[in-house]
Amino acid sequence: MLVSGTGTLLQSLLDNQDARYRVRLVVADKDCAALERAGMAGVETRTVPLGPDRGAWDEQLAEVVAAAEPDLVVSAGFMKILGPAFLDRFEGVTINTHPAILPSFPGAHAVRDALAYGVKVTGSTVHFVDAGVDTGAIIAQQPVTVAPDDTEDSLHEKIKAVERELIVSVLRSARINPTSRKVTFTHE
Ligand code: GAR
Repeated sequence: MLVSGTGTLLQSLLDNQDARYRVRLVVADKDCAALERAGMAGVETRTVPLGPDRGAWDEQLAEVVAAAEPDLVVSAGFMKILGPAFLDRFEGVTINTHPAILPSFPGAHAVRDALAYGVKVTGSTVHFVDAGVDTGAIIAQQPVTVAPDDTEDSLHEKIKAVERELIVSVLRSARINPTSRKVTFTHE
């Protein structure tokens, strides 16, 4: 798992692990509460901070993740764009959870942007990661109604409550072809 923040989605994935998936490694780009959550759960953690050389960071991140030999990479609140070295290795097996109904409101401020636009419904999208910003194929989506008095924080909290369940159900629906290592999802 790739994280940068408070890690409530990570916590949900940790709490709901069973024979269908296990969290093997948690990687962050900076010190964050998510790393503490992983540590408390006894899961191995690594930090790969972004320095001045973005290409070197991208390669290092790919190396660290590759060492864990994951079937699937899950970006949950990871706030950096994954680069070509990472995607060369992991495109097709990397998914992200985004706090909006894509293709509306991609990017780092999805909740703020949806609120500013005045939408009445927003939500959560789980999608494959490709070279674009939140442009990969959509795996699952769940709507959230915007209340007239919602703030960015209150709306984000409602979306995250949905995301915590959605990401678990998506991971439980993952099917991995043992020969090609290709991942598909039966989630509807
Ligand atoms: C989630 O809402 C996730 O969709 C969002 O960060 C939050 C992480 O929450 N990700 C992005 O905005 C990525 N562009 P958490 O740290 O409590 O798990």
